[in-house]
Amino acid sequence: MMAGSLRFLLLSLCVLLEPVTEIGGLLLKPVLSGPSEAYVRSEVQFDCAVPGWSSPLTYELYKDAGDVIAAENNVKATFTLQVNEESKGEYYCRLTAGGQTSNSIHFQAVIPVLGVRLSSDPDPAILYEGQKLVLRCLVRKGTHLSFTWYHNKQEVNSSSELHRLSGDSLTMDRVTEMHAGIYSCTARNQMTVNPRFSSSQSLHVTVRKHISVPSLSFTVFSNGSGLTANISCRSERGSPPVTFRLMLDGLELNVKRVDSLEAWFVLPISVGLDLGVAQCEAQTETQQLLSDPERLLVVPVGGAVRVTVMYLHDADGMVSAARLTCVPDRGTFPTFSWHLNHSSLPAEGAHAVTHHGQILILTEVSAGFYGCRARDSFNDSSLWVKSEDIFIQKRDLSATPMEVIALVFCGFLSIVIVFCSFFMFWCSKRRNNSCKHHSNQDVIQSEMTTMDAPVVSSEPQPEEMKTVNRFLEIQTRPGASVLQRRLRDPELFD
Ligand SMILES: *[C@@H]1O[C@H](CO)[C@@H](O)[C@H](O)[C@H]1NC(C)=O
Ligand SMILES: *[C@@H]1O[C@H](CO)[C@@H](O)[C@H](O)[C@H]1NC(C)=O
Ligand SMILES: *[C@@H]1O[C@H](CO)[C@@H](O)[C@H](O)[C@H]1NC(C)=O
Ligand SMILES: *[C@@H]1O[C@H](CO)[C@@H](O)[C@H](O)[C@H]1NC(C)=O
Ligand SMILES: *[C@@H]1O[C@H](CO)[C@@H](O)[C@H](O)[C@H]1NC(C)=O
Repeated sequence: MMAGSLRFLLLSLCVLLEPVTEIGGLLLKPVLSGPSEAYVRSEVQFDCAVPGWSSPLTYELYKDAGDVIAAENNVKATFTLQVNEESKGEYYCRLTAGGQTSNSIHFQAVIPVLGVRLSSDPDPAILYEGQKLVLRCLVRKGTHLSFTWYHNKQEVNSSSELHRLSGDSLTMDRVTEMHAGIYSCTARNQMTVNPRFSSSQSLHVTVRKHISVPSLSFTVFSNGSGLTANISCRSERGSPPVTFRLMLDGLELNVKRVDSLEAWFVLPISVGLDLGVAQCEAQTETQQLLSDPERLLVVPVGGAVRVTVMYLHDADGMVSAARLTCVPDRGTFPTFSWHLNHSSLPAEGAHAVTHHGQILILTEVSAGFYGCRARDSFNDSSLWVKSEDIFIQKRDLSATPMEVIALVFCGFLSIVIVFCSFFMFWCSKRRNNSCKHHSNQDVIQSEMTTMDAPVVSSEPQPEEMKTVNRFLEIQTRPGASVLQRRLRDPELFD
């Protein structure tokens, strides 16, 4: 009885003399619960309690290695915090006066994202192929962010050979045409609950193509009192603007900056007067290219005018078309006209004229005398220079079909074989070695003749061969360089 009363007294004393952290040998370990992240200017709650304990105790809330920031006596202590930018840290609670320490919560104070904008390097985002582009998604405010990029409204998902995604940047080491377009980005707070996001304005990226080597060409026109050369400088590919420079004998004559791929320069010129060697220079921010040189010289049509003919055969060896080319000895800017049997070609018919009238293609070869004439295209009062007429007739190889050729060949071969057998028989009879030797040679020779025979009988094309020779002549004649500019088409068939 006494012992029991004493025990109760001691226990009461213990309860009265706080802290009571160990009761009946029990270790009271508090547990802290609460969020690990919250936006600044929001309120959060941390709860501290000893699981299974239903009497009020005094709990203290600590942050990092600092002092008590709040204390409460309750069965379960609830601490409410106003989150600010300094709220981030390690939180834990403890029973008063050196009791057990709870688990800790690593708390993040998240600044909501605000004011996203896109920056580019270079700025403005106008680049040439192969240059480097870095886009950055900048925020005015915000922490714990993730970034999403959009190219032409399509999400840019992951890094590839085309681009690198890293942090707030999107990098393209070598831009191509594919990279051009509209970009935007979105920055998002990485929060599981209530993630906030903000999107940038869109940014237009322009990728310019490199220009190709320019080419120079010129035409002339007459304005009544004199001739004017219209010189064209042109790049086939690339992105404007381009600055074209006309150089004459290495000296700059004129400059034009154009929003296209071609510029024209006019220059007074006279027939037969050599102005010198002209070149075009095309310049962009990254390139400077020079055209091939071209002599500014207008040679009037002169010398003889010739017609060359090529026949086009179909698979059966039939003549399916003829191609007539009008070739003057000289002339930088000739114009042509064709005639048949001394009158002009009918407007309608089975023929076509190409290459500024220089080439006449007869799709249905009708017999007749064909001829052409040439004169300066820029001078309506210049004299026509006429070619000799050339007789074209409808011929086809099918006149001697393969069967006939084969038959002739076989017949001839049989005769040769019969003849040789007879001859050898005769020789062996005479038992003359030298005779035998000679006879073998004769066989070979006659066989070779046989091989030639059908070719001869199948109508060789003398005109065609002549034509080829003429073409070669034109291409190799030293004075023909001026002509070649106009007659640049050595291909015999288109
Ligand atoms: C990126 O992924 C999203 C969804 O996963 C898809 O709709 C989109 O087409 C993808 N973008 C590209 C460029 O593949
Ligand atoms: C030069 O030629 C071009 C193309 O034919 C033409 O557009 C331009 O007007 C010409 N220039 C002059 C001054 O005639
Ligand atoms: C014609 O061209 C010549 C030489 O290019 C020039 O001197 C002349 O002024 C031009 N005349 C007219 C009417 O344009
Ligand atoms: C052209 O003349 C030749 C020979 O005189 C004649 O055979 C042919 O039918 C004539 N062709 C035309 C289209 O008049
Ligand atoms: C045009 O041709 C006529 C006749 O050959 C010639 O007298 C005249 O000088 C030529 N005009 C030009 C601009 O070459």
